[in-house]
Amino acid sequence: MSLGRQELIELLGERDACTLEKLYARAYKVKVDNVGPEVYLRGLVEISNICRKNCLYCGIRRDNASAGRYELSVGEVLEAVRFAARSGYASVVLQGGERTDSAFISKISFLLEEISRIKCPDGGTLGVTLSLGEQAEEVYREWRAAGARRYLLRIESSTRELYEKIHPRDGLHSFGARMEALHALRRCGYQVGTGVMIGLPFQNEAHLADDLLFFKELDIDMCGMGPYIEHSMTPLYAFRSLLRPAPERLELSLKMVALLRMLMPDINIAATTAMQTLDPKGREKAILAGANVVMPNLTLSEVRKDYQIYQGKPGIEEDAAITSSGLEKALEDMKIPIGFNRWGDSLHYGKRNQSSDS
Ligand code: 5AD
Ligand code: SF4
Repeated sequence: MSLGRQELIELLGERDACTLEKLYARAYKVKVDNVGPEVYLRGLVEISNICRKNCLYCGIRRDNASAGRYELSVGEVLEAVRFAARSGYASVVLQGGERTDSAFISKISFLLEEISRIKCPDGGTLGVTLSLGEQAEEVYREWRAAGARRYLLRIESSTRELYEKIHPRDGLHSFGARMEALHALRRCGYQVGTGVMIGLPFQNEAHLADDLLFFKELDIDMCGMGPYIEHSMTPLYAFRSLLRPAPERLELSLKMVALLRMLMPDINIAATTAMQTLDPKGREKAILAGANVVMPNLTLSEVRKDYQIYQGKPGIEEDAAITSSGLEKALEDMKIPIGFNRWGDSLHYGKRNQSSDS
């Protein structure tokens, strides 16, 4: 569907509940017609909150001395991954703060090789997504060869000026480098996912319309985006008076999901935890607006409290089994089928590469 910039800006500014319901319903139909009615689950394992970066919005930024730091052992990661396999998820996401030291790089390669040996109940293997920040192209290549199929790296904002406002100017945070990393991931053969935060201070509808057009231009395979949620231990907290109220930020996020679904009918779009943070039914609402992927958190409950990118993250006291069964129940109640035991690869990627799903 072709939606122009001006049209996108207007739709992002739409506040009439009845018009929005129609927009979400249209996007949901586009989803069902193009990627089917299923929602795919990815078991999310937050492997470490140690990060070399200092993004001005993030609770696990390097300079937040009040965040207790942890790194899961190989055994702990594999335990969570086996739980995902047993639960029929067929896909896992390893997410963590950005580290570029060689011990970390080798540990990820080792984990990927171990994960490739884990069998799902149907005898198949797991699809693995990485979300570990910017890395050198040869590292992306090494991890791809070790078994990773997909990579999530959010652009955060596709407008350079806004990107630079929310990142420190210290030589480590560069819009150009982030953009180049996305191209490197594509060259290495990953299904490439990106995304933005929605409702940032200084951000308006025009920025978000440009983000949607950027996703289309980059021809992404997957998208994970969600509302910005202020964290008191971060520099961006000083600008909290500029924020839209939380319900409006969630509504804006749902509009972004619906419009992206209409622009890119066959990509995978995640209903994110940040949406659930602003509204207990936020992920379900995103699914009904066109999202088709949910990432239940499988991180061990002992360390979950330390992976606080933003405050108020739900499920901190829960353990993996409870989190995932709660989500499965909610989907069941909505009569939405779960794509158990299937990788649920991006159809968009499949079409571009003419390779088949498992
Ligand atoms: N609110 C919402 N999302 C955030 N992220 C980081 N900090 C916040 C915040 N305060 C998101 C970023 C990052 C992802 C891992 O978490 O988009 O890419
Ligand atoms: Fe690190 Fe990512 Fe947080 Fe930035 S957003 S500080 S790179 S974990």
